[in-house]
Amino acid sequence: MKAWRVHQKGHYAEVLALEDIPSPEPGPGEARIRVRAGTVNFADILLCQGSYQDRPPVPFTPGLETSGVVEAVGPGVALAVGDHVAAMSALPAGGFAEQALVRAPAALAFPRHIPFTDVTLLYSTYQTAHVALHHRGRLSAGDWLLVLAGASGVGSAAIQLGVAAGARVIATAGSPAKLEFCRQIGASHVIDHRHEDVGRRLAEITAGHGIDVVFDPVGGPLTEAARRRLAWEGRHLVVGFAAGPIPDFPANHVLVKNYTVLGVHWSAYTKHARATVDAAHRHILDLYERRQIQPAIARTVALDSVPQALRALESRDVIGRLVLVP
Ligand SMILES: NC(=O)c1ccc[n+]([C@@H]2O[C@H](COP(=O)([O-])OP(=O)(O)OC[C@H]3O[C@@H](n4cnc5c(N)ncnc54)[C@H](OP(=O)(O)O)[C@@H]3O)[C@@H](O)[C@H]2O)c1
Repeated sequence: MKAWRVHQKGHYAEVLALEDIPSPEPGPGEARIRVRAGTVNFADILLCQGSYQDRPPVPFTPGLETSGVVEAVGPGVALAVGDHVAAMSALPAGGFAEQALVRAPAALAFPRHIPFTDVTLLYSTYQTAHVALHHRGRLSAGDWLLVLAGASGVGSAAIQLGVAAGARVIATAGSPAKLEFCRQIGASHVIDHRHEDVGRRLAEITAGHGIDVVFDPVGGPLTEAARRRLAWEGRHLVVGFAAGPIPDFPANHVLVKNYTVLGVHWSAYTKHARATVDAAHRHILDLYERRQIQPAIARTVALDSVPQALRALESRDVIGRLVLVP
C-alpha cells in the first residue's frame, strides 16, 4: 500500500517520501482501517519536524487523525470489521496512507450513510469545539460568543455550534474572504483583526456588556484584546496557540473582572472522560442530521498532493478544513 513516510525529521517539503510499504498489523488496542478521508492539520507539519508533542520513532507516516472502514483488529478491541470509524492514528502508522492504524479507545463509530469527508470533521474538529463550548464553557442561549480564527477548522465548527446553541456569535479573521465565510456560516458580527481595533469593536458590538464566552485557538495579542472585554463571570476557553506566543492571564485581572480561564485538551477526554466524548458525539450527530451544522471542507486532496496541502496550511491560505481522500 502507498504511504507518506518520514525517515529523518525536518521540514515536510524535504522529508516526506511517498512509498510502497506492507500493510501495518494492529497490536493490542489498535485497529487497521482502509483510509477513506482524513483531516490535514498544521500539527502534521510539526510532527514531521519533530516539534509536536508526540514524537514517534522514524520511519513514520504522519496524519494524526483519520477515518475509514475497519479491516482488522488487534487484541482487546471491541470494534468490528466493516465498522465506519474516525479516530486518532496509532503512530507510526498514521493517516497519510491507504491504510492506517488507529487507537481503538479513541475511535468513534459513525452511521454508514454519512460521507467520510464529513465523518472526519465530525470527529475531533467538532468534538473540540463542542466540549469547549458546552462542557467547559457552559454556553447558554443569548450569550455573546467570540470565536477567534473563525475561518479555521475548529473556529468554523465553534461558530456553527454557537449559532445552534442560540448564542450571538462574533468572529475574528484575517482576510475579506475569511470574514465573508464566517458570516455565511452564522456569525452575526465579524472583525478583521489585521485592520480593526478588536477591543473597541467588541465593546461597541456588545454595547458594553462584554463577551460571555471566548473560544480561543490563537493566543498572542488577540487573547489580550479578548480577555480585556470579558463580561462579568465570562469564560475564556484556551484551545490553542496558532499565533505562537503563549498568553498570560494575570491573576489580579481574573479576580477583579471575575472571569474564568478554562483549558481545553480534547484528545485527553478520550482517555480520562470518555462519557463526555460520547455525549458530545450524540449531540453532534443529531445537529448534523437536522442540518444545523455542516462541516466546512475547504477542498479534498489526493494522496500525492499532501505536500501541497501542508504548504497551503503553512501559508495560512485555507478556509475550513483540508481533507485527504487517498
Ligand atoms: N485543544 C485542543 O484539543 C485542540 C484541538 C484541535 C486544534 N487545536 C489547536 O487549535 C488551533 C487551530 O487549529 P486548526 O487546525 O483549526 O487551525 P487551522 O484551520 O490551521 O487555522 C489556524 C488559523 O489560525 C489563525 N492564525 C493566527 N496566527 C497565525 C499564524 N501565525 N500562523 C498560522 N495561522 C495563524 C489563522 O486565521 P487568520 O488568518 O484568520 O488570522 C488560521 O486560519 C491550533 O493551534 C491547534 O493546535 C487544539
